[in-house]
Amino acid sequence: MQFQWYPGHMTKAKRQMQEDIKLVDLVIELVDARIPMSSRNPDIDELGKNKARLILLNKADLADEKQNQAWTSYFEEKGYFVVRMDARSKAQIKPVNQVILEACKEKIERDRRRGIKNRPVRAMVVGIPNVGKSTFINSFAGKACAKTGNKPGVTKGKQWIRLNKSVELLDTPGILWPKFEDQRVGLKLALIGSIKDEILNIDEMSLELIRLLQQEEAYMTAMAARYDLTPEEEPVKLLEQVATNRSCIKKGGELDYSKAAALLLDEFRSGTIGRMTLEKPEEYDA
Ligand code: G4P
Repeated sequence: MQFQWYPGHMTKAKRQMQEDIKLVDLVIELVDARIPMSSRNPDIDELGKNKARLILLNKADLADEKQNQAWTSYFEEKGYFVVRMDARSKAQIKPVNQVILEACKEKIERDRRRGIKNRPVRAMVVGIPNVGKSTFINSFAGKACAKTGNKPGVTKGKQWIRLNKSVELLDTPGILWPKFEDQRVGLKLALIGSIKDEILNIDEMSLELIRLLQQEEAYMTAMAARYDLTPEEEPVKLLEQVATNRSCIKKGGELDYSKAAALLLDEFRSGTIGRMTLEKPEEYDA
């Protein structure tokens, strides 16, 4: 699902989210573990204040495990509960239930003191497009979970999925926009495949990818090994080597840079070159 955001969309999405957030105890925010900051929405902290917060570092299977750990600590230090996972894996999702209860412990305690028993905690999933919200909801809720339907006192039309006797999930995720006015953010979103390729220059993107990977020795080594490259060369030279070594040749015998660029981007996005993360916590405020 690809989105073009306009101010009108953003206002509407924000208003919808403000309404939905009132109904829940916990906000489950999905981010892409390869770019945990660039795949966050700038307004979510304001929208979700006073709620328990859980960040799911999703697509962790494609990201560098060392960085997954570093980002987990980063967000935990800021007071979020954090789980890293592959939303397609039911086994990896299982522990999330426990973390939800842990994150809502205060509310559960408060209910108990007031004599309210067995009131499930309510959660909603939010995130920018393509981070895996639907995949997560499907894996987490599964087919077996009956929808509870409308409840008295709850905004009409809202569907809650009863996950078990302790947790209910709003069935539609909140879709938020990224910080695309920041060009670096836009570039990284494009590199992981969140923005349509047609609106971007593939050749330029692949060179930017090479530049980013060159900053991390281990990533450069992995790329050099896969395409038989000379790591110390300039990005353009490296792209040329990819084209040569992968026989990306046009009809007249010329090197096909765009084909090499597309190959590189594809293999990066699928994790074929290796598990890589494009931003580190130390690049952001402590
Ligand atoms: P959204 O609701 O937030 O927009 O995201 P959605 O669940 O549709 O997921 C977007 C794509 O990401 C899907 O691929 C999905 O399979 C994949 N995905 C979700 N979670 C994970 C994860 O943890 N690891 C990996 N590796 N992939 C994940 P798709 O439908 O095949 O789309 P595409 O790959 O063709 O773009």
